[in-house]
Amino acid sequence: MVTGDRDKLHEEIRAIAARTNFSRASLIPILREVKETYREIDSETMQFVADILGTHPVEVDAVASFYSFLHPEAEGQYIFRLCRTYSCELAGKEQVAEELEKDLGVKFGETSADGAFSLEWANCMGMCDQGPAMLVNEEIYTQLTPDKVHAIVADYRARLSNGKGNGKAAPTAPAESARMTARNELTFSTIPAGDGLKKALAMPRVDIIDMVRDAKLKGRGGAGFPTGIKWNFAAAEKRGPKYIMCNADEGEPGTFKDRLILSEYADLVMEGMTIGARAIGASLGLIYLRAEYGYLRPHLEGVIRRRKLAGLLGYDIGGVEGFNFNIMVAMGAGAYVCGEETALIESLEGFRGEPRNRPPFPVVSGFLHRPSVVNNVETLAWVPCILSKGVDWFKSIGTDNSTGHKLFSVSGDCERPGVYEFPFGLTIAELLRQVGGEGAKAVQIGGASGRCVPEKDFERRLAFEDIPTGGSVIVIGPDRDMLALAHNLLDFFVDESCGQCTPCRLGNSKLLEGLEMLREGTCTPEYLQDLKGLANTMQVASKCGLGQTSSVAFMSILEHFGDEINVR
Ligand SMILES: Cc1cc2nc3c(=O)[nH]c(=O)nc-3n(C[C@H](O)[C@H](O)[C@H](O)COP(=O)(O)O)c2cc1C
Ligand code: SF4
Repeated sequence: MVTGDRDKLHEEIRAIAARTNFSRASLIPILREVKETYREIDSETMQFVADILGTHPVEVDAVASFYSFLHPEAEGQYIFRLCRTYSCELAGKEQVAEELEKDLGVKFGETSADGAFSLEWANCMGMCDQGPAMLVNEEIYTQLTPDKVHAIVADYRARLSNGKGNGKAAPTAPAESARMTARNELTFSTIPAGDGLKKALAMPRVDIIDMVRDAKLKGRGGAGFPTGIKWNFAAAEKRGPKYIMCNADEGEPGTFKDRLILSEYADLVMEGMTIGARAIGASLGLIYLRAEYGYLRPHLEGVIRRRKLAGLLGYDIGGVEGFNFNIMVAMGAGAYVCGEETALIESLEGFRGEPRNRPPFPVVSGFLHRPSVVNNVETLAWVPCILSKGVDWFKSIGTDNSTGHKLFSVSGDCERPGVYEFPFGLTIAELLRQVGGEGAKAVQIGGASGRCVPEKDFERRLAFEDIPTGGSVIVIGPDRDMLALAHNLLDFFVDESCGQCTPCRLGNSKLLEGLEMLREGTCTPEYLQDLKGLANTMQVASKCGLGQTSSVAFMSILEHFGDEINVR
């Protein structure tokens, strides 16, 4: 880095830090800026950032090295990140990988000698219905074929030789593929704009929470915690300021419905956040957007600006005196675990995304140790629908314990992958009929952390009282190797474990090794028993949901597909 560049960089760093009054919360935005512009974070920069934020360079390094989009080593002008998760594997990522290596002249994990290109594997980019998928800086490419790869690489070579490759690559508008609409009509498209918020603003706060609770809305992020109860806890806290966070981290392999909601229904999500803010008394909302969806940021910020101009954000919202609330987009930096709500909060505060001990729960002590609600994108989008159409309407859909509709992200071996809205309680067999996946031998429900359901259980229902799910459904065709599925998922967890606790940090690696032995036919029955014992230990002794669920798919594959497993 030349001196002139460094002076400019220091100016930029100061400007970003000033936006948060030089607080630690500006660390990740600063590191993102440095990495995007200069492609490396060298020790001199770390020292400068540490001095500005009143911390130690070791802290800065610890944060940078935690996130896959920030790691400090020098990378190329263009970083090609090919998705390696299971849906992209089914779609043929291996052949695409070979072509990329040939065309770019580098292996995975390497940067070309001229500093032009880096090639990396990436974990799920939320394009599972259109794999194989790849990000180049912030531009997304889907349904890759060798021919497409040749054309894309040629395009980047041309950009470099035209001089357009210098400096930070400007984020593009969301690609057409990222805008892909749902496969069936979504209720979201039938709700009159602003109707839910208007009704909420005419109600006492407590009645808003009662409506959400009476509708029995459960969180759509996977755990299914009742939203009304969560909001009630936060509302009851006396300390302020309070915060409401939209969890747009969507890193669970096979999940992409939140990407569609953010692309098509961002207003509804922000309306849900505003209603939530009114109900709990929050003054700031943060949308934690995963780095892989960086191309959605300009769109979301545009919606925020428009809502401010319309008096739907800012001061005295909707003419209600004293109701002041704003929304900001905060970028993730590439870490699946940051979808876990306390890790998300750590990340927002400028730390490594390491889950916290609970209690205290975020509703009591969350962002900046103040009461905070974290809700999934879809959960928030349902709130204005409930306010607009009523509790009885919502409860009339789904089952007793799983009310309403649910968005499903369907990928894998089926004719019509994509986002679907179905009522809770639908059987897997019905879902497979709708998506053209009748020949499946299994479905992976709930992403990598979910379970693998065999054909004999296809009459089971997708609902919290039977098979709970955040909405990811990967259809697995009759000829697929189930151990290859388990391998792909465990590999993902080895990569994504935050490493904070031993059962998860070591357990996932040990399970992966065991799985490789199973695939090679060198695993003994006794060792297989040990692996099952280890998986159980991980489920009970890990600190957060990642380690508690990472062995679930492995265990269900062992249970249901024993005939594909050779022990000696
Ligand atoms: C490893 C891990 C990753 C998670 N990723 C997400 C995510 O990407 N999006 C999400 O909404 N919830 C995710 N969750 C669940 C959140 O911790 C939290 O329960 C959720 O955001 C709450 O919102 P809800 O009640 O509206 O579902 C994840 C949990 C774990 C353990
Ligand atoms: S379970 Fe895994 S991801 Fe969760 S805190 Fe422990 S090491 Fe980190």
